[in-house]
Amino acid sequence: MRHQNSARLSWFRTTLRGRIRAFIGALFVAAFAVSAASIAEPLATLRGETINQEPRAPMMGKQVNTDLRAVRNYPEQPPTIPHKTRGYAINLQANKCLSCHSRRAIEQSQAPMISVTHFMDREGQVLSSVTPRRYFCNQCHVPQLDAKPLVGNDFVDADAVIKAKGN
Ligand code: HEC
Ligand code: HEC
Repeated sequence: MRHQNSARLSWFRTTLRGRIRAFIGALFVAAFAVSAASIAEPLATLRGETINQEPRAPMMGKQVNTDLRAVRNYPEQPPTIPHKTRGYAINLQANKCLSCHSRRAIEQSQAPMISVTHFMDREGQVLSSVTPRRYFCNQCHVPQLDAKPLVGNDFVDADAVIKAKGN
């Protein structure tokens, strides 16, 4: 009898523990859902249609083509591309970007040469032409669109931060 009682008691304890765990788990899930909903909210309306409707694709943005080199937000930032890149192939046979930006092409094109980091292999050895690690230019460099930003951005340049601190 005693034995049975304690067995029942331990069964009760384990289910109670299970319930508490389930309750805490549910709390977490609810908290996550609430925070996910509040993050996703502003962008959720972009599609502008219900899930079973196919909305019209938005017009393609206009590529910035000012030919003016843009400021870099920090020294190691890959500069953005200030010209059009439509139809510029990069594959095994050809690299259109290098036809202007390679070491030997710049005299003719007057484009800025790819910097020395683009010649370094992973050991830091400087090769005579572009390293395979930097062959696919648009892995890092991107053209810009003349488009309204989707979300706000309060990025502050490091210089402004230092100035605000007063040193
Ligand atoms: C027809 C020659 C030409 C081709 C092809 C070309 N560029 Fe350029 N690029 C230039 C010139 C010239 C500049 C200087 C700014 C200007 O005149 O647009 C420049 C500027 C840039 C800059 C800005 C550099 C800086 O310091 O701000 C980047 C990045 C760049 N190009 C990347 C590319 C990539 C990537 C490709 C291939 C998808 C490419 N370019 C193809 C001529 C070219
Ligand atoms: C792995 C990323 C990466 C790839 C791939 C890459 N770049 Fe860059 N590029 C950078 C970074 C980072 C900088 C700025 C710092 C530096 O020079 O390394 C830069 C700088 C440049 C500059 C400015 C150089 C200067 O001295 O002002 C040009 C032009 C450029 N890249 C063109 C190219 C072209 C053309 C290709 C393709 C052949 C290419 N990049 C591939 C990351 C990359």
